Amino acid sequence: MDVGTAQGTLPTQIALAHPHVTGKGFDLPIVRPIFEEYVHSFGLQERLSFHPGNFFDDPLPEAEVLVMGHILHDWNLEEKLMLLSKALKALPKGGSLIVYESMIDDDRSQHAFGLLASLNMLIETPGGFDYTGADCCGWMKKTGFSETRAEHLVGPASMVVGTK
Ligand SMILES: C[S@@+](CC[C@H](N)C(=O)[O-])C[C@H]1O[C@@H](n2cnc3c(N)ncnc32)[C@H](O)[C@@H]1O
Repeated sequence: MDVGTAQGTLPTQIALAHPHVTGKGFDLPIVRPIFEEYVHSFGLQERLSFHPGNFFDDPLPEAEVLVMGHILHDWNLEEKLMLLSKALKALPKGGSLIVYESMIDDDRSQHAFGLLASLNMLIETPGGFDYTGADCCGWMKKTGFSETRAEHLVGPASMVVGTK
């Protein structure tokens, strides 16, 4: 379940690479036709479906793995913690949440892209900000995830995996 999926690029790439995987994209109802047109263009409509909802008003749908890509940085700390808490509720024991963003390095001295992205969020949103992998691991632990790990992906992107 990709939370805040937009057109569904991430579930599409995962489904193309792993033919046994089925999944859903969760986003605001208005996004449905954009998601469905994109997923249809790859012939993946039997394995990927759209789940409409508002992550402030609705619980997150249950899934073995949840993903939040470029979601948490839009929101203030209280909202970030609320979203992590909703993700924890939606997971079974042993299930995982994967958060990926342009994360800042832990001592906030190297990763200019992440720091500038954070400045951008501070300008463009009421309370959004980017963060380090250690920040995200700490928030996940505080929320109740039992294990966390941070890993660099490619370019400016890193992920944090939290397991229930
Ligand atoms: C910055 S985009 C991230 C898209 C994609 N995950 C990525 O990594 O490129 C944020 C997404 O969150 C969705 N979104 C914003 N507020 C939402 C809400 N309250 N409930 C559900 N989705 C929301 C937006 O519609 C948008 O698709």
